[in-house]
Amino acid sequence: MLGVRRKIMVAVDGSAVSDKAVYEAVWLACSQAGKFKNKLFAVFVKGDQVQAADELFARGQSAQVEDGDGWQQIIDDAFLVVRKLAAEKEVALEILIVEGDPATLIIHLAKKHDIDLLVIGSTGKGAMKRAFLGSVSAKVIERAPCGVYVVRA
Ligand SMILES: Nc1ncnc2c1ncn2[C@@H]1O[C@H](COP(=O)(O)OP(=O)(O)OP(=O)(O)O)[C@@H](O)[C@H]1O
Ligand SMILES: [Mg+2]
Repeated sequence: MLGVRRKIMVAVDGSAVSDKAVYEAVWLACSQAGKFKNKLFAVFVKGDQVQAADELFARGQSAQVEDGDGWQQIIDDAFLVVRKLAAEKEVALEILIVEGDPATLIIHLAKKHDIDLLVIGSTGKGAMKRAFLGSVSAKVIERAPCGVYVVRA
């Protein structure tokens, strides 16, 4: 409904596609017709440690994921663009960091925060090149409690 505050959630994994999703999500959050400001939630799910360790290894870093520092770097990178754009556009931003199965938790958080629209990349950081959807986006589209805006790679 126009003029009503919307809650938009973007799922970030630090990939170029998720950065594209962030641009769209911030743009959507900016385009408000009424006096109520929209709110943007950005969520990062710490998946399995093997994936994080692989990522650090690929960057030539040897930080241990278990000590928290490894994750911290990955998380800082993942939220870099959304923090910058939301600040520039003066969009209210809430950062959510959780640990577990990405799709399950994105869906859970969308329900918990009563999200109106979820924005997600078609693919992400996965090494396997897919035709269209990654495993997280496929699951989220199937089970989301609200509309899902899929930003193509
Ligand atoms: N851990 C995560 N936390 C938050 N959002 C995520 C996470 N993983 C993926 N996403 C979101 O889902 C989108 C699609 O990523 P997905 O993981 O489905 O594709 P992929 O990495 O190419 O494939 P796969 O992980 O199945 O190998 C990303 O662009 C991002 O928006
Ligand atoms: Mg992935």
